[in-house]
Amino acid sequence: MNTELKDIQDREERAIKKAKTVKELAEVELSLFGRKQGLLTTVLKSLKDKPEHERRTFGAQANTLKTRLTQQIEERRAIVGGLEEGSEPFDLSEPLLPIPATGSLHPVTQISEELEECFSAMGFRVLDGPELENDFYNFEALNHPADHPARDMQDTFYIKDAPALLMRTHTSPMQVRALRQYGAPLAAIVPGRCFRNEATDARHEHTFHQLEGFLVDADVSFAHLKGVLEAVAHQLFGEMVRMRLRPKYYPFVEPGVSGEVTCMLCEGKGCRVCKQTGFLEVFGAGLIHPNVLRAADINARRWSGFAFGFGLTRLAMLKYGITDVRLFHSGDSDFLKQF
Ligand code: DAH
Repeated sequence: MNTELKDIQDREERAIKKAKTVKELAEVELSLFGRKQGLLTTVLKSLKDKPEHERRTFGAQANTLKTRLTQQIEERRAIVGGLEEGSEPFDLSEPLLPIPATGSLHPVTQISEELEECFSAMGFRVLDGPELENDFYNFEALNHPADHPARDMQDTFYIKDAPALLMRTHTSPMQVRALRQYGAPLAAIVPGRCFRNEATDARHEHTFHQLEGFLVDADVSFAHLKGVLEAVAHQLFGEMVRMRLRPKYYPFVEPGVSGEVTCMLCEGKGCRVCKQTGFLEVFGAGLIHPNVLRAADINARRWSGFAFGFGLTRLAMLKYGITDVRLFHSGDSDFLKQF
């Protein structure tokens, strides 16, 4: 393109874009196409003075430029004209800009919500309990008298000026609180934070999450416990997953079991994480001990029930292949962005 025309094109296109009102745009238009002194008018008029061989190409280029600038002025007029009337310019064909990521739910929250959905569908209500507990609900009412050795496994943080208060070591105290408040029959789950005085490493953390659940009604048996938890395991990990229950002692249930499901990392073939057993422990459970029902003011002759506790933090680690528990509360956004 002829350099004179190129200069005009560059300069005037900028002027058109800069025009913010219809009036400013009209001025640009006049300076370009005005009958007497318009820049392009003058250029076109000068054609006749050019030598024959230049006239054709220059003329063609000047006319193309005229069409181009006229079109840009019209487009700009539609935009600034619209703005002046108070309406936003609206271009249906404009491609959508990518929406920036706005954060995501913490992996423990995601697992918790999955379980909440599962249990709510079966009629369990979702409850919340205090993280600062007292000795009675955390231990005594759960059949751990003051000198019970099982207390040693759950050392926690005590409050200096109130020795009866402590940070709850599990969500089980809510069995007693909820039964005292609502009475039997009752089916509820309680997700929440728990605390223990641990020496921290990749597998131990002073703060972690559990999900407690229980059902109290007439004639509740071990078959009910198994049926409910098997349904949940299938919903959570798929129909192929098998569940097995093995005897384990917890003071607040009788009998008590450790609940295991097919290892999701090796699909039951045996690997390092499941210690070649093909199964992973994901919950503790059992039939609620009559002493616990009594502490909750429930007639243990009339009512019976089952209870279970899932390690939510542990479930999240297994599901997402997280190898260091300390990442959960690290506040590391690179870690969190992955979920
Ligand atoms: N509270 C137990 C813990 O923190 C977990 C548990 C085991 C809860 C058995 C239960 C249960 O409700 O029946 O290790």
